[in-house]
Amino acid sequence: MTKLFEKLLQPQITGIQTYVPGKPISELQREYNLSRVSKLASNENPLGASPKVLQAIRDQLADIGRYPDGSAYYLTHEMAKFLNREPEEVAFGNGSNEMLELVARIFAGPGDEIVYSQYAFAIYAISAQIVGAKGVEVPAKGWGHDLPAILKAITPKTKVVYLANPNNPTGTMFTKDEWEAFISKVPSDVIVVLDEAYFEYVNDTDYANGLEYIDDYPNLLVSRTFSKAYGLASLRLGYLVGHKELIGYINKLRAPFNVNHYAQVAAVAAIKDQNFVKKTVDYNLSGMAQFLAVFDKLNIDYIPSYGNFVCASFGDKTNEVNQELLKKGVITRPLAGYAMPEYLRISIGSSTENQHFISVITSLMK
Ligand SMILES: Cc1ncc(COP(=O)(O)O)c(C=O)c1O
Repeated sequence: MTKLFEKLLQPQITGIQTYVPGKPISELQREYNLSRVSKLASNENPLGASPKVLQAIRDQLADIGRYPDGSAYYLTHEMAKFLNREPEEVAFGNGSNEMLELVARIFAGPGDEIVYSQYAFAIYAISAQIVGAKGVEVPAKGWGHDLPAILKAITPKTKVVYLANPNNPTGTMFTKDEWEAFISKVPSDVIVVLDEAYFEYVNDTDYANGLEYIDDYPNLLVSRTFSKAYGLASLRLGYLVGHKELIGYINKLRAPFNVNHYAQVAAVAAIKDQNFVKKTVDYNLSGMAQFLAVFDKLNIDYIPSYGNFVCASFGDKTNEVNQELLKKGVITRPLAGYAMPEYLRISIGSSTENQHFISVITSLMK
């Protein structure tokens, strides 16, 4: 294709790699003429959403022609109450993705630096590129964030640090002690974004809940999402919690009506159904245990994970294994784009989907 407009591009836009999402089910069905597909590629909730959420959406369908509440008033108040924070300390976005990128747009630009870990969620590097800041990738330690090294990478040019706990795609977690040693030394004029997209899944007393640090560190923004444990990925809803001033800037810069009415209605119902979240987390733990037992039995190396997914290594056979899984209707996530070409990331699915993956992988490994 002739590039008509390349010359017009802002210089930082030229090199941006397009984010590659997991393959959709319908595409694989068409490609291989499959009747049954198990999508274990996007860390979605295999239980879907709470029935109470579905009912709340149904009850509001007649409102589809109206703009949503641009201030997400009820949702913001419900969430603030749930988190025991002030409404002015919470901002919602079209997925946490929008919020993560917005932080870079607001606080960094050409000449600035944005720091994140090797193997961290791809959007951090992309956000740095979008705003023309220098992305500083700090080598990982044991697939996880090396917080002391990240601290050393902060310079007077650093405007934003992104951390994911647990991290995607590796599933690693840093501990409360590591976190406290880190955050207490970060200069107060550097924004720390602590991405807790998978925090509901963590069942470990060493985990640091970011919200507990907001009062002590006004430069901290905690990012969470309704896409994972709440099962609302298609509605696109995430949020940031932090100091009122920071949240004020976020609200100023986000697009008007960035959170649709059904996301707002669904989230209010979802927050009130914590039993569903608990059921999701228990379901995930048993699916994870099932996967790990199979990996152990088949001698497949994996990275222990605190999320709703796990990375397994198939060495130099990874591409082949991925192709065979696809042919049999199992979509996982190859990680070559994360410079982890030997790994597939497998989301924990429903017990039927997990069984599908297990039976294909078991016959492949033979
Ligand atoms: C670590 C992490 N942060 C943020 C997101 C973005 O999620 P969403 O935009 O659906 O809220 C994801 C999605 O996979 C993720 O893994």
